[in-house]
Amino acid sequence: MRFGILNGGGDCPGLNGVLRGVVKAAYQKNIEIYGFYQGYKGLIELDYEVLTPKKIRGILPKGGTVLGTTNRDNPFHYKGKGDNEYKDVSDALIANASALSLDCLIVVGGDGTMSITHELAMKGLKVVGVPKTIDNDLNSTDQTFGFETAVNTATDAIDKLHTTAESHHRVMILELMGRDAGFITLYAGIAGGADVILIPEIPFTIDNIMAKINKRRALGNDFSIIVIAEGCKIQGHQVVAAENEGNEYNRYRLGGAGEALRQILTEISDLEVRNTVLGHLQRGGSPAPFDRILSSRYGVAA
Ligand code: F6P
Repeated sequence: MRFGILNGGGDCPGLNGVLRGVVKAAYQKNIEIYGFYQGYKGLIELDYEVLTPKKIRGILPKGGTVLGTTNRDNPFHYKGKGDNEYKDVSDALIANASALSLDCLIVVGGDGTMSITHELAMKGLKVVGVPKTIDNDLNSTDQTFGFETAVNTATDAIDKLHTTAESHHRVMILELMGRDAGFITLYAGIAGGADVILIPEIPFTIDNIMAKINKRRALGNDFSIIVIAEGCKIQGHQVVAAENEGNEYNRYRLGGAGEALRQILTEISDLEVRNTVLGHLQRGGSPAPFDRILSSRYGVAA
């Protein structure tokens, strides 16, 4: 038999663990593995490599993905090199899979990639989906790999902000990733002992935040740590940093909630407020042991 594998969407610590698990398990059963580069683009443009255990040696502790990835290329809405407009290349993609005699395609992805994969499965492509995201927000999945690593990174950042907040008697805001889900912010906020934890799932008001800060001040704590998920609504609106061209599943890049909150708190109080955006540091780095194990298990199971 011959299986293909590709990953789509944003990278995530543990992607290489899945790939390694797939290749090692497949090798024992004499299944050949074709690895496609840059997500679905690799299958559309036939950019791939046969993956042997030797080729994937040493990748378990590596962050990112050795296959590369993109959150732009959707076969139902695809613009290749030199194309002026988007077109549906899903039939060509399925024809490529058949010409390569792929018995199955293993797709490692988040909500956007899984929606595309579901549509391809409806058209007859045989697929196995492996859930992936640092956000931990995938339906029917208890925990995604990459989440633990992201929470570790975010907790470390909160610890570091604590010491400087205390020295300077400041309110320090930390904006964390998670699009519309507050898991990273909630877990890191609790683990790092943040004073205010703001997540999209729980509405809040500026008055609530001020009340908590003032309560702390009354007790002699003249600094506070606020963690906020990027998807939180500030005065009724999510803060959008940019539009993601060609990505119909995630049309907007979020970012700026922390800064918007900083401006409001500065205007309405005498507090000295600073904002830090942790950004893609949460997606990078070597996977934590838990994520290495979970991703390996997903790979072997797939
Ligand atoms: O879904 C994972 C994630 O890291 C989100 O938490 C974040 O909003 C988004 O991806 C950022 O994507 P990009 O790297 O494309 O800006």
